[in-house]
Amino acid sequence: MATEQPAAEVPARTGVGIVGAGPAGLFLAHLLGLAGIDSVVVERHSRRHVEERIRAGVVEHGIAELLESGGVGDRMRREGLVHHGIELRFGGAGHRIAMSELTGGKAITVYGQQEIVKDLIAARIESGGPLVFEAEALAIEGVDGPSPAVRYRLEGRERVLSCDVVAGCDGFHGISRAAVPAGAAIEYQREHPFGWLGILARVAPSTEELIYCRHERGFALHSMRSPELSRFYLQVAPDEPLESWPDERIWAELRLRLSTTGDWSLADGPILERSITAMRSFVLEPISFGSLHLAGDAAHIVPPTGAKGMNLALADVHDLAGSLTALLVEGDEGPLEAYSKRCVRRAWQAQEFSTFMTTLLHPLPGDDFGNRLQLARLEQLVGSADAARHLSERYVDLASTATTGGGRS
Ligand code: APR
Ligand code: PHB
Repeated sequence: MATEQPAAEVPARTGVGIVGAGPAGLFLAHLLGLAGIDSVVVERHSRRHVEERIRAGVVEHGIAELLESGGVGDRMRREGLVHHGIELRFGGAGHRIAMSELTGGKAITVYGQQEIVKDLIAARIESGGPLVFEAEALAIEGVDGPSPAVRYRLEGRERVLSCDVVAGCDGFHGISRAAVPAGAAIEYQREHPFGWLGILARVAPSTEELIYCRHERGFALHSMRSPELSRFYLQVAPDEPLESWPDERIWAELRLRLSTTGDWSLADGPILERSITAMRSFVLEPISFGSLHLAGDAAHIVPPTGAKGMNLALADVHDLAGSLTALLVEGDEGPLEAYSKRCVRRAWQAQEFSTFMTTLLHPLPGDDFGNRLQLARLEQLVGSADAARHLSERYVDLASTATTGGGRS
């Protein structure tokens, strides 16, 4: 079994035990390393699997700065696509939201989550810090005491990693939340009555900026990854089988929904990847329990319409790294004690924006009243600079500014 880290060399004790090598776990390990704090990352999948998993692609203004200031933003700055606006398309017409103009020059960077993951893995390996793939965490124990432990399986054998602190960065389907003592947290959830069919296609984008399109047949999004790769999403039923979407049907549906009265056309190409994801909103409150602290998708899930999931995950662990540095280097418990409160506040701000974008753009079959309201709201957004500014401020820079009502965390 291939692991990047020889099993014999994985320490049995560390400062911070990190479960999960997604953007949250990897950025946390990197920032802790910069502060001179030891950590071990255990990840249940292979390196190849986590590097190839296609996920989100929009990096907010302030989050791009955090990656850069952590020394892991060089390739993103070189290869990422900087966008100064988005298009809202409805009723067969496109309307540009000039985000940079409306936010004092802020912009988003379109750069795939798996590219950030590759950059963070490369930085971790270069630093020599332990990062163990194909190591599945089974349980987190002793979180109410000073020496918690992560029990995990590597090369068929169970092992124990003793830590000062455990960071649960293992996503929505991880095991960290199971270590939360019964009755210690509230779970707020909302299921949405649709999912997204997402594709990656080898074709030049037919647009310079992202198109968020509301159509009677459902939402469509035209995004991209590079000058040669386009990414698209279609609103579908949450339990829709992928088999009922052959290539021709996908392109025909994208053409129908994205069509305009102007002279715009959609270029197609080979589909390289496709998946259907149900849409969910979830917030856990609080997210710290003794010496266990959750971050990213383990703590909260937002529907992807606001492009906030990865940004929230990175903002959480930037905060967590600073709080752990205060504790483990300076002996100051204060920042870590308020970590959960700051993250939960940020999660609800992201939840509010993501719900706003989702309910604005996804028509519900049979809900004629709601569907007319969507059009009225869209008209406000393209007709009022104040409404467009409010959307832009939250779209370009929410995650790094949402803990103190405007100030950086
Ligand atoms: N043991 C070890 N690793 C685990 C376990 C386990 N028991 N369970 C899950 N993991 C790993 C997963 O394999 C995954 O690589 O934890 C990692 C969690 O990563 P993400 O799901 O990417 O979560 P996070 O780092 O919080 O990033 C959130 O990912 O899903 C998107 O939209 C979301 O963009 C957001 C981002
Ligand atoms: C993406 O490119 O994957 C993407 C872009 C914007 C979103 C969601 C996903 O809102």
